[in-house]
Amino acid sequence: MKILTVVGARPQFIKAAPVSRALRQAGHTEFLVHTGQHYDYGMSQVFFDEMGIPAPDANLGIGSGSHGAQTGQMLAALEGVMLEQQPERVLVYGDTNSTLAGALAAVKLHIPVAHVEAGLRSFNRQMPEEHNRVLTDHCADLLFCPTQTAVDNLAAEGITAGVHRVGDTMYDAVLQFSAVARQKSSILQDLGLEPGGYLLATVHRPYNTDVPENLAAILSAFEEIGEPVVFPAHPRTRKMLEKFNLNSDIENLKLIEPVGYLDMLMLEQHARLLLTDSGGMQKEAYFFGVPCVTLRPETEWVETVEAGWNVLVGANRAQIVAAAQNFVRPPAHPSLYGDGHSAGVIVGWLGNTFDSTNKI
Ligand code: UD1
Ligand code: UDP
Repeated sequence: MKILTVVGARPQFIKAAPVSRALRQAGHTEFLVHTGQHYDYGMSQVFFDEMGIPAPDANLGIGSGSHGAQTGQMLAALEGVMLEQQPERVLVYGDTNSTLAGALAAVKLHIPVAHVEAGLRSFNRQMPEEHNRVLTDHCADLLFCPTQTAVDNLAAEGITAGVHRVGDTMYDAVLQFSAVARQKSSILQDLGLEPGGYLLATVHRPYNTDVPENLAAILSAFEEIGEPVVFPAHPRTRKMLEKFNLNSDIENLKLIEPVGYLDMLMLEQHARLLLTDSGGMQKEAYFFGVPCVTLRPETEWVETVEAGWNVLVGANRAQIVAAAQNFVRPPAHPSLYGDGHSAGVIVGWLGNTFDSTNKI
């Protein structure tokens, strides 16, 4: 079967890597399209290099822009590629503008859409990701949900056909690449870090980066925590630090460029605690049994909070400090995101025939 995959942003390369491998092993033909949403080496190519993802068959080179312009340019370009390639399925991941553009282009051409990470909801319509998720799910014929919560969210919106709970391909990726990371990454030595002797932080949500008071509160919380905080800054965050003239020259803060996946796996598993507004990193913290303090008022990954391994604090300085300093590790660590074989299950469903006549 010919499957056209759309990726474009950092987390999508990671989610797609195990599926791309399984697709090819199963004998399917994958036509991989990179929208170009992320384009710096450290935001894009490093993941292809480290995770053995085949070079994209097409790179649309769309780059950065306002939501409408970026999504619209992707939509037009993807339509052209889909018309030319005539795939039997279009596969999209997660909740970025690349996801929505891929789903919209396909549904309008009557090509079945498969969505990996379907059914996630923050119930916060201020987030661009929330529009992207809802709209993509309502275009999709095959909805691959990581959790029962995601299945239930879809049912609440009337979507039950084509819904499959498959676990999380990010867990597949962690299992596939952790040993490689241990062999190849020297990031702990390079940064002079002791296992358990530092916190790891990432921040990139507009709610945190584009609101100067919130970004300032987060930085001041990191300073007050006092322990070493390693902070690989997303380019958006770097830009906003400069724009708002915020002082990141803080003694216990190691502000570094974004790191590759292998370095990130090492940094995550050896951190005492993660401070993040990333979706993927809340899960990765959980996979490694590392506590997470989430710099958002809500999360799509509610199971991690219910299990006691994740605390939601938003951009509130005092709450960030208290959560980081007083975190109590829960005794239990249930399996929440599948068995590490999600990619194979997804590929199995993708190859099946299904009725798409009443999908919307
Ligand atoms: C996007 C996704 C977000 C996801 C994140 C993962 C949307 C709406 N947002 O957010 O869901 O969590 O990716 O990282 O799709 N930039 C660079 N170099 C790059 C990429 C971006 O400098 O390679 C800078 C540009 O100034 C750009 C800004 O980062 O304007 C934001 O990039 P964009 O892709 O629009 O959104 P993200 O914040 O990365
Ligand atoms: N990641 C990485 N290097 C970094 C920051 C993140 O490899 O410097 C990885 C991280 O391990 C996770 C994914 O990128 O697998 C998460 O992406 P991001 O936080 O950009 O987006 P989100 O998950 O919030 O959509």
